[in-house]
Amino acid sequence: ITINWSVEKARKDGYDTFLQKEIHEEPAAAQAFCREIRNHRAALDAYLKQHSFTKIVVVACGSASFSAIFAEALARQFELPVDVISEVGSEMRYNPPIISSTTLVLAISQSGETADTIGAVKAAKQKGAQVVAFVNVAGSTLEFVSDLVLPLSAGPEISVPSTKTVTNMFLAVYFFLDAMRQALSGARDESWFTSAEDFRAALAEMVGREREFRSIADRISGYQSCFAIGRGVDFSIAKETALKFKETSYLHCEAMNAGEFKHGSISLIEYGMPVLCILTDQAQRKKMVSNINEVRARGAQCIVISDLQPTEIEDAEAMTVITVPAVGPVWNTILTLVVAHYISFLIGTLRGIDVDRPRNLAKSVTVE
Ligand code: AGP
Repeated sequence: ITINWSVEKARKDGYDTFLQKEIHEEPAAAQAFCREIRNHRAALDAYLKQHSFTKIVVVACGSASFSAIFAEALARQFELPVDVISEVGSEMRYNPPIISSTTLVLAISQSGETADTIGAVKAAKQKGAQVVAFVNVAGSTLEFVSDLVLPLSAGPEISVPSTKTVTNMFLAVYFFLDAMRQALSGARDESWFTSAEDFRAALAEMVGREREFRSIADRISGYQSCFAIGRGVDFSIAKETALKFKETSYLHCEAMNAGEFKHGSISLIEYGMPVLCILTDQAQRKKMVSNINEVRARGAQCIVISDLQPTEIEDAEAMTVITVPAVGPVWNTILTLVVAHYISFLIGTLRGIDVDRPRNLAKSVTVE
């Protein structure tokens, strides 16, 4: 299976790496998704009306699997009257959850060729599940095993660390769950699409802040280990942050549920150790601020990524605060992804790593 476009034909458009180019393409990719998906809304509504799903299993691998974790947390925030669980393909295919004909499997994949995701989908279909897939590469294998295919519309992504497609995956999950809750409640509103334009503008502002991100990259690139922590929907952002640091800059980073830190892992905090703290989840803000102060009190160097202004964060002067433009709940959470993409790119570059082709990795893992 060859990707529908060749690396040779793809151009870097003046950037030194595809990774930096694709980070700068995130606003346009997000806009393309939000515009294109509007053309598929009627088909999705009709499809959801045809079935009364009692369970949604969101399955993916790697960075895509963090959009599945995001889906599980967001469904709880929406109080969706359907059980939503996240799965990684390699586990689900051999150790599946209960699946029946009222189960919807939502598969998410940039390449549409990830063997573990495809294997999990096939196993679920054998048990009668319906399958909806969000895919970036048209004509991929995942498309042929799915009942309904929706486009991620991010355009060609050449760099092995995925960036613009990950932001589009989180947008896709938000769109899907918003459509699901409207289908279940009978309500109908288009506000998702109007906020999408504000999101694009905010993302465009974010990718212009290289100087701010570079000063942080300079400060943390000398460390060998760090943490990324969050609560609720922010935990999925912490997971993507950790993976990006590992695969793009070889800086070990562990994602932690912030509330879990005090149950043992906090013993690893040494003076100056970077801890990236994602602070956008509305319901858990207060608890997250106290988790941040827990680690700061033990000497950590806290880098807070939030939609809050520094003046709204206790002791902000003792931390580094990266404020994302406030578009609205959920949108603000998705905006924080690009900070992880940009800072991991800058640290990888500082460390002289081939950020487009990190060691041991392939763009599409077509083996089990
Ligand atoms: C992303 O930065 C990674 N390179 C990798 O984890 C990737 O997300 C995973 O292999 C899934 O790929 P897919 O989206 O093509 O299914």
